[in-house]
Amino acid sequence: MPIIAPSLLSANFLHLEKDCQMLNESQADWFHLDVMDGRFVPNISFGLPVISHIRKATNKVCDVHLMIEEPEKYAQAFKDAGADILTVHIEACNHLHRNIQQIKSLGMKAGIAVNPHTSVELLKDIIADVDLVCLMSVNPGFGGQSFIPQTLEKIKQLKSIINNASSNCLIEIDGGVTLENANEILTAGADVLVAGNTVFKSADPKATIAALKAL
Ligand code: DX5
Ligand code: ZN
Repeated sequence: MPIIAPSLLSANFLHLEKDCQMLNESQADWFHLDVMDGRFVPNISFGLPVISHIRKATNKVCDVHLMIEEPEKYAQAFKDAGADILTVHIEACNHLHRNIQQIKSLGMKAGIAVNPHTSVELLKDIIADVDLVCLMSVNPGFGGQSFIPQTLEKIKQLKSIINNASSNCLIEIDGGVTLENANEILTAGADVLVAGNTVFKSADPKATIAALKAL
């Protein structure tokens, strides 16, 4: 069964507690929390204080996706805010191996996010060290964009890199996941589906999560 990680970027920020409660009652596995700095991506979302409050509102896994420059400066702070998984962008890290070791030494699972233009071949020498690869299937920065079809081929390439390394690394797909394309994404080899608009803009978010989970 896939791991379902609704993205709270599409939640109602005025009623976050209500949306957290809804996710707690749903079959969602993880809370996907998108942090944007207005530099690495052309948008600003939310940060540490909001995540600390969300942490108090759930026992589910907090999967924090950092779309920020110099993520190493904030790893400790996100640990303190309650992150279970901390994902940094390969494009934002000059010393990725060091950044991954830092995240793990703080007691979090470590993830690497990869933009649509970045080849998964670049992950070969680090795959054994990471718990998660977040393949961006849209250009990061905004919810509600369309899935980029070439991602399917990247999932297959990444799966074979992971298998060759005998690694347990999970493949997470982030951006434009819908009830229509999720099956194809899972068949290609994905383990985790992030879904923002598909969940929060649906008439019955809990039923939508259940439908994704049942794929
Ligand atoms: C985009 C974020 C995504 C976003 C996905 O930069 O990383 O997590 O919330 O939203 P949807 O599922 O609406 O494409
Ligand atoms: Zn994300």
